[in-house]
Amino acid sequence: IRVAVVYGGRSSEHEISCVTAGGVLAALDPRRYEVLPIGITTSGRWVLTGGDPGSLAIGTGGRMPQVDDAGGTVVLPGRGELAVQSPGQVPRALGEVDVVFPLLHGPYGEDGTIQGLLELADVRYVGSGVLASAVGMDKHVMKLLLAGAGLPVTRHVLVRPSAWEPQRDRVVAEVEEQFGYPVFVKPARAGSSMGVSKVRSAEELEAAVLAAREHDPKVLIEEAVVGREVECGVLEGPAGGEPEASVVGEIRLGSAHEMYDFQAKYLPGDDVGLDIPADLPADVAERVRRMSVDAFQALSCESLARVDFFLREDGSLLVNELNTMPGFTPTSMFPQLWAKTGIDYPSLVDRLVDTALR
Ligand code: DAL
Ligand code: MG
Repeated sequence: IRVAVVYGGRSSEHEISCVTAGGVLAALDPRRYEVLPIGITTSGRWVLTGGDPGSLAIGTGGRMPQVDDAGGTVVLPGRGELAVQSPGQVPRALGEVDVVFPLLHGPYGEDGTIQGLLELADVRYVGSGVLASAVGMDKHVMKLLLAGAGLPVTRHVLVRPSAWEPQRDRVVAEVEEQFGYPVFVKPARAGSSMGVSKVRSAEELEAAVLAAREHDPKVLIEEAVVGREVECGVLEGPAGGEPEASVVGEIRLGSAHEMYDFQAKYLPGDDVGLDIPADLPADVAERVRRMSVDAFQALSCESLARVDFFLREDGSLLVNELNTMPGFTPTSMFPQLWAKTGIDYPSLVDRLVDTALR
């Protein structure tokens, strides 16, 4: 099977995508797969790379890997250069493979854009289609659809993409009326906690909104939920079957952490851990699994997703969000959830390819 692994990309999660790709490249069995590693640089150039998993790991001192186009063969050039290239170039390069693994996190990859490109080129790919990918990337639209399907979500106030100043008074008033502080301020379309901050007062709000707007002019201000953070993996079922949910995992954060931020996610110390399976009553775990499948279906997902929840003291659950291309490094939550469910990392990669080829 000829598989193109596409990774890196223009989003702020470029480096995480590289680490994810390193894990998948190492797991693709050369007896089954012929691999075409394609990196997308931070400026948007597509280059054939060596695809050496070793060069895609997090280095000492937390140095993050990046796609470097020096010396690489350019498959598709970056922004603004597209017009001067032959239009058939992308389909030609990708048309030679059986399936594409778009291991991109964040905008310009996880958001339906590459999915649309691949649909146009008539190439099969792993993961959700255009609609679910786009919805899953936008925390605001995602909440509307989840709530529309009857799933409980965290309350939020929206900062629209128009100028901030004229909205400020309305936003502050809505936050204070609806839930008060503390709140989380998040760019609508970003991931890995980029641009996210926890805010305790109206005075701190403005700086946090402006910081989030560095990532996306559309910003959500969410109530800070007091509770445990649990996550569940979902895989598309066998042909004609229902989606399947993994065991449930929990993120255990030491008191030094205010939130599950970038550092805690990718550069964990002794005080951050993943409990898999989470220590939960059977009925709560079952509810998480059922709601995860409901969320997967509510957004019309395909292939895979990870659904993140808050579990409050009273036993109620809130869906925080769904990720259509969850972090996929060997130490990430998603593959570990499936390993504990009975599907190890290489089998998971095989299954995703098989689902895409079906
Ligand atoms: N956005 C990151 C990669 C995740 O959800 O795991
Ligand atoms: Mg999350």
